[in-house]
Amino acid sequence: MENVQAIKQRFGIIGNDPKLNRALEKAIQVAPTDISVLVTGESGVGKEAVPKIIHSLSHRKHAKYIAVNCGAIPEGTIDSELFGHEKGAFTGATQTRSGYFEVADGGTIFLDEVGELPLTTQVRLLRILENGEFLKVGSSQVQKTNVRIVAATNLNMIEAIKKGKFREDLYYRLSTVEINIPPLRDRKDDIHLLFRKFASDFSQKYKMPTIRLEDNAVQMLEKYRWPGNIRQLRNVAEQISVLEESRSVSPMTLNSYLPNAGDSNLPAVVEQNTRKSDFSNEREILYKVLFDMKADLNDLKKLTLELLHSDDSEKVQEENESLIRKIYGNEGSSRKEENDTAVELLPPHDSRVEKTVEPPQEDKYHFAEEIEEEETLSLQEKEIELIKKSLERNRGKRKAAASELGISERTLYRKIKQYDL
Ligand SMILES: Nc1ncnc2c1ncn2[C@@H]1O[C@H](COP(=O)(O)OP(=O)(O)OP(=O)(O)O)[C@@H](O)[C@H]1O
Ligand SMILES: [Mg+2]
Repeated sequence: MENVQAIKQRFGIIGNDPKLNRALEKAIQVAPTDISVLVTGESGVGKEAVPKIIHSLSHRKHAKYIAVNCGAIPEGTIDSELFGHEKGAFTGATQTRSGYFEVADGGTIFLDEVGELPLTTQVRLLRILENGEFLKVGSSQVQKTNVRIVAATNLNMIEAIKKGKFREDLYYRLSTVEINIPPLRDRKDDIHLLFRKFASDFSQKYKMPTIRLEDNAVQMLEKYRWPGNIRQLRNVAEQISVLEESRSVSPMTLNSYLPNAGDSNLPAVVEQNTRKSDFSNEREILYKVLFDMKADLNDLKKLTLELLHSDDSEKVQEENESLIRKIYGNEGSSRKEENDTAVELLPPHDSRVEKTVEPPQEDKYHFAEEIEEEETLSLQEKEIELIKKSLERNRGKRKAAASELGISERTLYRKIKQYDL
């Protein structure tokens, strides 16, 4: 059996915390069996490595490994994605399609964000877990598959069950073995280690000398709560590496990269920090304005096209007026779902399914918006920054961040994955 240290090296996992080691040990022990595993832990703790470890140490390692992000697939199509569909099962089903459970026969499926599965899909999944049987959407012919399921969630599943959002029987089936990855704040000794690793990675990436924390800054780093866990720590290391001229990082500098660290140990620092955060607020507002302008520009483009193509000038006039009301009226900052495509700055590559299979059928998720490239690139950077800030401000709570940004949770989710935030 491979030992924990070897696995860490192979999968680039940093840290020596006993709770982390125990979690990895569990993954190694359970890998050769077909037992279902539920990986739990806060956002950004490193859950995604576990199913990969399990698959690669199992007898299924030469078969397919498919990672499906359940939270990012629209409810209306998730059954068809997972279980496939028959030709004619619904409008647009022009041919029979195999789902991931069929394609991954003999292999492993990682159901990430499993707590987001709709209840109807949960019923189908339960059946697969019980006897390997499933039906394609629109078919009455029972099919069989042999798939090992590893799931992950950062939700409190007991709460979800209480609220009727998740089936209790499915929860017990999925979590035959539960592997919990501890939050960063409970792995204090790993924090500086991880920071140094990321600092060294980014110094290579950006071809700059490595940043180094002053002693007091190390203490601050270890005292901070890290609501976004390792993902947040990595972002902080990257931001400081790129933005700070001095390679020696003082507590004051570090503090300005840690949202809500104000109540930490250094009063003088807090005062200093106010100025900087005022400045960054201003910048955020500017970005927000830029986004709204972008959306408005899209509206205008659309309208111009319509003007060019329409001879019904009265109708256009009306639309024009309503658009102007919309732009200058009072709904500026609360753009909702309907405008989501307008802030979709890049034609999304499908980031929901990680690898190994080409989803066999037609490209269903083609978002029409096409925007010139340079424009897209600079705005994309701003978008990433805006999203990061909003997530930080809302302590990683996507719902709150999405509503602050005026986009749907799903869109935000897609963007987090797309930009690997
Ligand atoms: N121990 C570790 N050593 C090095 N990098 C790590 C470690 N744990 C996590 N990371 C990195 O931190 C980032 C976040 O990890 P991951 O994507 O697995 O989070 P998660 O637990 O799936 O979070 P979420 O619930 O938000 O999806 C990844 O880039 C991952 O490579
Ligand atoms: Mg994840």
